[in-house]
Amino acid sequence: MRTTTLGRNGPAVSELGLGCMGMSPGVYGPTEETEGIATIHAAIEAGITLIDTGDFYGMGHNEMLVRRALEGVPRTRVVISVKFGGMRDPSGVFIGQDGRPQAVKNFLAYSLRRLGTDYIDIYRPARLDPAVPIEDTVGAVADMIRAGYVRHVGLSELGAETIKRAHKVHPVADLQIEYSLMSRGIEKTILPTTRQLGIGITAYGVLSRGLLSGRVPSSGSKGDIRIVRMPRFQQGNVEKNLRLVEALRQIGDEKGATPAQLAIAWVRSRGADIVPVLGARRRQQLKETLGALELKLDAADIARIEAAVSPSGTAGARYDAPQMAHLDSEAQA
Ligand SMILES: NC(=O)c1ccc[n+]([C@@H]2O[C@H](COP(=O)([O-])OP(=O)(O)OC[C@H]3O[C@@H](n4cnc5c(N)ncnc54)[C@H](OP(=O)(O)O)[C@@H]3O)[C@@H](O)[C@H]2O)c1
Repeated sequence: MRTTTLGRNGPAVSELGLGCMGMSPGVYGPTEETEGIATIHAAIEAGITLIDTGDFYGMGHNEMLVRRALEGVPRTRVVISVKFGGMRDPSGVFIGQDGRPQAVKNFLAYSLRRLGTDYIDIYRPARLDPAVPIEDTVGAVADMIRAGYVRHVGLSELGAETIKRAHKVHPVADLQIEYSLMSRGIEKTILPTTRQLGIGITAYGVLSRGLLSGRVPSSGSKGDIRIVRMPRFQQGNVEKNLRLVEALRQIGDEKGATPAQLAIAWVRSRGADIVPVLGARRRQQLKETLGALELKLDAADIARIEAAVSPSGTAGARYDAPQMAHLDSEAQA
């Protein structure tokens, strides 16, 4: 697998990343821990070096799963990206963001312990804490870089103006943000800004949480946030969205590719500064994901793909209204 550098100041990473969120309970329904760990092993075997997690994914569970998967793997072989700041109560309900400098250092201390490592490669606030200037939050991460506990500053779901302010405090490696055929909001102001500043993009939701694979959870699936609250999966919307995926499937059939592979290849075609972070949680999904690297799209393919699946044709927003309200990236759009 080829490697690339995240932005002008970031680390070298594989051209695809693996996001581990869905391997923990409480996100996408039932999970299989051993299969999650086997998927991380298979990803590393295939050359993936960028591993993404968050301290609030499964409330520490995800970091501990990543730790188990990385036992015996040389530390320098992986680039660990960790999100912090999302606070949850014991029942798992999200109760806000904390971006205060002392909270950043506290979150980091616990993440280092759970991950069983001396340093985190990329450390990022998951969302903007509206009560704390971004300069203070990023300043605390910069302090931790100087102290040797973190290597790079990352950001997540911020708008262009906030990105500029953060970058003035310390050079930013990458912005993690949703980007797919169905969610192209970053193209207007965010992408031009990250490109101007030399900040890389790690794109999540490349499959719109699996929708673009054409496989959706059944309505009775327990503990699946897609069924509980994600607009694109709600009845009335999901049928329309799956029709778009069928149009994608027809194009894929001609090219010997699945809809998911076309969706991944399309994101990759948007620029060398964009590294898709896929949420494969089973080895079979990883295999499909890796297959997308072989796919070559020409201008005519891209035009057909964009005609088949577009943000304007997609039914439902990428998050529900309360979550959209917490996205600085959407507030500035
Ligand atoms: N910064 C942020 O705000 C933020 C937000 C969300 C996620 N993330 C990060 O980004 C990663 C990916 O996010 P996502 O869950 O939105 O990603 P995604 O890649 O759009 O969707 C992942 C889901 O798609 C389904 N899927 C079907 N075929 C697949 C295939 N070939 N490869 C991968 N998945 C396939 C799986 O669900 P089934 O197994 O149910 O079929 C899987 O859980 C997360 O793990 C997390 O690390 C960051």
